Amino acid sequence: MNDELLIKLANEAKENAHVPYSKFRVGAALLTKSGKIYTGCNIENSSFGLSVCAERVAIFKAVSEGEKDFEKIVIVADTDETIRPCGACRQVMAEFGDFEVIMVSKKGEISRSSVRKLLPYRFNGDFLKI
Ligand code: THU
Repeated sequence: MNDELLIKLANEAKENAHVPYSKFRVGAALLTKSGKIYTGCNIENSSFGLSVCAERVAIFKAVSEGEKDFEKIVIVADTDETIRPCGACRQVMAEFGDFEVIMVSKKGEISRSSVRKLLPYRFNGDFLKI
């Protein structure tokens, strides 16, 4: 799966962002190991704490369809520097292991990283085995 297609789909999803408060649009496209793609956009709420990021929307859509093995996620936003996933999204990504994270800026510049690199020293389910 080429990254260009994922970037295009993430940009299309970004247009669906519901952002009346921040006006900050984010789009995501998640590729599963089985080859399926799930997109997401950020969805804000007048009760601000209920807002949810684009990455989590894409991940929750995938998981709700029975997909938990991820190859990569592309995140796009109209930022000068490549967008970075927030801490909460890093933790949600880490629940599903290590996969590539591709972050894209307004001009199409790309930064590549991985869940493990973005969230070292993380909390995980092993700590619950007490
Ligand atoms: N946001 C995302 O959707 N993903 C990120 O990685 C960072 C932030 C959203 C949340 C909120 O709707 C808006 O961007 C401003 O924080």
